[in-house]
Amino acid sequence: MASIYSAVYAAWKQAPQTFWAGAAADIDWFTPWESVFDSAHGAYGRWFAGATTNTCWNAVDRHVLRGRAEQTAIIYDSPVTGTLEHWSYARLQSEIEAFAACLLDRGISKGDRVILYMPMVPQAIVAMLACARLGAIHSVVFGGFAAKELATRINDSTPKLIVSASCGIEGSKVVACKPLLDGALALAHHKVAHCIVLQRPQASATLLADRDDDYEQIMSKARLKKRSVPCVAVAATDPSYILYTSGTTGQPKGVVRDTGGHMVALKWSMKALYGIEPGEVFWAASDVGWVVGHSYIVYAPLLHGCTTVLFEGKPVGTPDPGTFWRVIDDHQVAALFTAPTAFRAIKKEDPSGSFRDKYRLSALRALFLAGERADPDTIRWAEDLLKVPVIDHWWQTETGWAIVGNPMGLGLLPVKHGSPTVPMPGYALEIVDDGGAPVAAGQLGNVVVKLPLPPGSFPTLWQAEERFKSAYLTDFPGYYKTADAGYVDEDGYLYIMARTDDIINVAGHRLSTGGMEEVLSSHPDVAECAVIGMADQLKGQVPCGFIVLKSGVSKSSREIEDEVVALVRERIGPVAAFKRVVTVARLPKTRSGKILRSTMTKIADNVPFEPPATIDDPAIIDEISAALNASTR
Ligand code: COA
Ligand code: AMP
Repeated sequence: MASIYSAVYAAWKQAPQTFWAGAAADIDWFTPWESVFDSAHGAYGRWFAGATTNTCWNAVDRHVLRGRAEQTAIIYDSPVTGTLEHWSYARLQSEIEAFAACLLDRGISKGDRVILYMPMVPQAIVAMLACARLGAIHSVVFGGFAAKELATRINDSTPKLIVSASCGIEGSKVVACKPLLDGALALAHHKVAHCIVLQRPQASATLLADRDDDYEQIMSKARLKKRSVPCVAVAATDPSYILYTSGTTGQPKGVVRDTGGHMVALKWSMKALYGIEPGEVFWAASDVGWVVGHSYIVYAPLLHGCTTVLFEGKPVGTPDPGTFWRVIDDHQVAALFTAPTAFRAIKKEDPSGSFRDKYRLSALRALFLAGERADPDTIRWAEDLLKVPVIDHWWQTETGWAIVGNPMGLGLLPVKHGSPTVPMPGYALEIVDDGGAPVAAGQLGNVVVKLPLPPGSFPTLWQAEERFKSAYLTDFPGYYKTADAGYVDEDGYLYIMARTDDIINVAGHRLSTGGMEEVLSSHPDVAECAVIGMADQLKGQVPCGFIVLKSGVSKSSREIEDEVVALVRERIGPVAAFKRVVTVARLPKTRSGKILRSTMTKIADNVPFEPPATIDDPAIIDEISAALNASTR
């Protein structure tokens, strides 16, 4: 099919409100909007102001009413526990109602916050949608974060209740979650009245009599009572969830998602971008703790009436590098969405792709990649192996869906390796220099989006409107700063090259090096430190810390290095993948005392570079290089 992308993008540009009002017809509204876009409210305006609706209604109830009751909503495929379950839309609805009743009984109502610290189990989706049913605001915290990170999120979002599980399963490891939850609650100054804990057979947790409930016990009572819990009408502009993401300090940013615009954008993307029809099987191999999991494991596929795959496993080792192909074959997956790192992991273990030959992948129409730069080698390898289009697309936790992509449903545009292709309707991109002036085609600059952001993108940060404005809207007035640098070629294709802040991307996970530096500098023997992201063949980037020790420390540098590694794991979590640290005599700085992190990155990555003219002492470059070569950590 010839692509109609240009016509669709032009139609949006000419009449954005008409465009989004058209897309909004695919959502059930309880009361209509007063204005499609209300420019007078919020930092840049709000979508579908005046309308009321409910996300759980649109994702579940309406499908049950309109012929999808017996269709599978969730396939829970867990090679790590040997479990395979098919949940119909009707079963999902009754479980959500029962869980919503449990939440109601514990005082949860519209606007209350509920934290979910859950592994990849269907009960996580039930809890998310039960919150949506009541108009409560969930905040899912990724299981790989440690107690302190969870505590920070508890203090910021002040939840009344936390839903968790006794354990998660990471490949062959059982990771106890409940001790982390207890630790976080002890650290947090905000007090949480109730916890609901899913006991898993792999490790059971000790429950506190006056605070903790056993998920199954309260659910079996609620199921027996068959209480009907209606979907609460919420304003389209009300928050549906908060998802914390790394900021430029240790304090994460609470990205707020609204309700109406979120549904409109996600529903639209399923057909137009991913080329998926209702009833088909969609698989996002991510985690519900990340934005990809929120948008494309849970909300978008269900809003679209699809079957979503909830996969609890890894691309390799659970049990082998053929596990993705097995899932595609078993469940007739029409589109797979994952991070390039997953494919690099498979390629590393099975470079010839021999495991693929055991399976029939005829249902698969496309592979979508996002979360980090998709390197051309990996794309080519995946194209050769799968014989379907491999489509890179670029987005962020903040936007909730793709800013730039290659729209399968509108007709694919020619793929250029290394580019996620072109802006989606809703996004007017510009590449500008640091002063905000547009740069020429092919020239690197800041990638900015002209305001307003489209439906689905965040309207603010949780209780931090000023931080929202200063972090995203102030540097380039009238534009959203993506904090990514890139360029647009003569055909209008975007290339994302780097972040302009301290964020690094480790195995598709977004992490702040500033946050890690805060942990390193809290070690009593560390005088100064810097953390950079160095290139890694598997994970894209991995953090590398440099520490300068205080004079006269009694421990060996190796001991201190081990301690700071343990400290990052304890304070941030294993997801930081912080394993490399090098003790150096001094850090490279400018004459005004600014640490030259980008120079250190170039040294670590072994790429040729010119030392910056402002460097205080050029001799330090050889020192850093020698320390890196000598280091065994
Ligand atoms: N709960 C507890 N611990 C977790 C966790 C979770 N949900 N997720 C990761 N971890 C731990 C891992 O066990 C590992 O611990 P270790 O240091 O003891 O080995 C550490 O955090 C780092 O995890 P990760 O970076 O994921 O590395 P890995 O070696 O376990 O796996 C990949 C590497 C590439 C296989 C894996 O990252 C992957 O599948 N990524 C692609 C998909 C994806 O999740 N993308 C993100 C958003 S789209
Ligand atoms: P997150 O908020 O975790 O989704 O991370 C968003 C960041 O990941 C972006 O700002 C980019 O730096 C990076 N990113 C995501 N997708 C891509 C992509 N397709 N190409 C290059 N970088 C990407």
